[in-house]
Amino acid sequence: MCGIVGAVAARPVAGILLEGLRRLEYRGYDSAGMALWSETEGQGALSRLRRIGKVQALADALEQQPLPGNLGIAHTRWATHGRPAEHNAHPHMSGDRVAVVHNGIIENFERLRDELMAAGYKFSSETDTEVVAHLVDQQVQAGATLLEALRSAMQRLEGAFALGVIHRDYPGLLLAARKGSPLVIGVGIGEHFIASDQLALLPVTDRFMFLEDGDIAALGVDQVQIWDRAGNRVERAVSRFEHGAGSAEKGEFKHFMLKEIYEQPSVMKSVLEGRVSGDHLLEQAFGSEAAALFDATRQVQIVACGTSFHAGMVAKYWIESLVGIPCMVEVASEFRYRTVVLPKGTLLVTLSQSGETADTLAALREVKDRVLGTLAICNVPGSSLVRESDLALMTNAGPEIGVASTKAFTSQLVALMLTTLALGRRHGVLPGTEAQIINALKGLPELLQQLLALDPQIEQMAAAFAEKHNALFLGRGALYPIAQEGALKLKEISYIHAEAYPAGELKHGPLALVDKEMPVITVAPNNEMLDKLKANMQEVRARGGELFVFAGNVRRGCT
Ligand code: M6R
Repeated sequence: MCGIVGAVAARPVAGILLEGLRRLEYRGYDSAGMALWSETEGQGALSRLRRIGKVQALADALEQQPLPGNLGIAHTRWATHGRPAEHNAHPHMSGDRVAVVHNGIIENFERLRDELMAAGYKFSSETDTEVVAHLVDQQVQAGATLLEALRSAMQRLEGAFALGVIHRDYPGLLLAARKGSPLVIGVGIGEHFIASDQLALLPVTDRFMFLEDGDIAALGVDQVQIWDRAGNRVERAVSRFEHGAGSAEKGEFKHFMLKEIYEQPSVMKSVLEGRVSGDHLLEQAFGSEAAALFDATRQVQIVACGTSFHAGMVAKYWIESLVGIPCMVEVASEFRYRTVVLPKGTLLVTLSQSGETADTLAALREVKDRVLGTLAICNVPGSSLVRESDLALMTNAGPEIGVASTKAFTSQLVALMLTTLALGRRHGVLPGTEAQIINALKGLPELLQQLLALDPQIEQMAAAFAEKHNALFLGRGALYPIAQEGALKLKEISYIHAEAYPAGELKHGPLALVDKEMPVITVAPNNEMLDKLKANMQEVRARGGELFVFAGNVRRGCT
């Protein structure tokens, strides 16, 4: 994941930018760079330093070659267009005049690049970002102000992006813009900042303005001006960062697990941020090699543990029904120790919140040379799993401190659906469905809010089986692994023995256990399997079992 930091101040900013980049290291990256404005012999000039590898490599280079200046932008890059290389690292420049840092994906960059090349611009990188620098330059050369130039460039860009821009002839002016990728403004006293994550700026400020989609901001030392997508001057509220060390505090919640359950609506937005544009997927978000790898994928092997395994099981239903290719799912502790047959064209998908689970990591190491390619779906960018995989999709759920996975699970499901869409698109099987699914994913935060509002009813239900010693969870289809995850959560959190079954298996043995002491929790979506599930519930009733049904429509609640 790329990271942006920018600063305009009355003091040198290279150190502030460097510290900001260090704080974004947790997001994972392959190169880092910065560009600063300074004055030499009465003339403005931009100087730039970029290094492949760690931010420390950039810091070492800065020791050798300090960059003076009170205005600058900096970036950590995660390759999506063009391999990790110094010439592909940001900032990108147009001549010695404009410098740009960018997060996100410019989908129409090839068309724009051809057009700019025809107009005489030479490209020195393989990135999509460089078109932004040249587009802005082209407008300024034609007489536009820097602000007008950025506005007009933005109108031509398709995709999701956050941008920081400086210009040789505009001392003391830092421009920022966002559409679909996060960007915040840090408000200081006599200085202002931008960053893709407020954590980058905590050493210099705790006051932030959050840009909305389509906003452009002009930052000077003394003021910030913001225009919305229609070009109207707007104010964005300044809020104080009150979480201290951040998400590592439980605030008003009794414990971290509860806090993390309540974070799910916002986590759903973070997983989608920068991955979708309008109603379609930005598949480059998986990395620059993704398209070729997905094209060649003939089957998928998912490997994971615990909750992550359950998320993988759900994806099996999606991949096989929507993409039409085989998908195998196995717990890593089994997979790694047995002789596995991996047919040609296998994409290995590892799923892990932490990215450090020993069995999952060992499974990856065991077979990575025998598969077509590897994709890690993970919440911790710098983790071993991410570093050692060909492709990575971060779940962006923020730190999960509670031992029981909650928001990590739901964010994995969204990431897996994005993976299904990417595979479906490459295999040409999802025309029409993609937009429908993306729109449904966008509705998740609202649905989750509605679900969280059922808290009092859920608490009442919980009281009904708090004293029980056993529970059964039932589901069918993709809801069977959800039932498995429910059983795992109940065991882990309340020490009540719980098992999950595909509802159709009930009559093949477990029904014998059902009596009035056995709560049976059923996940019952309103789909083609509902009638079959109802029949299974009748079996439970007939044995006097106590049913708790999570029905498809959350408004109807739990009965
Ligand atoms: O970090 P991982 O997702 O690889 O962890 C795997 C399991 O240990 C984990 O999902 C565990 O089952 C959950 N925390 C249980 O709630």
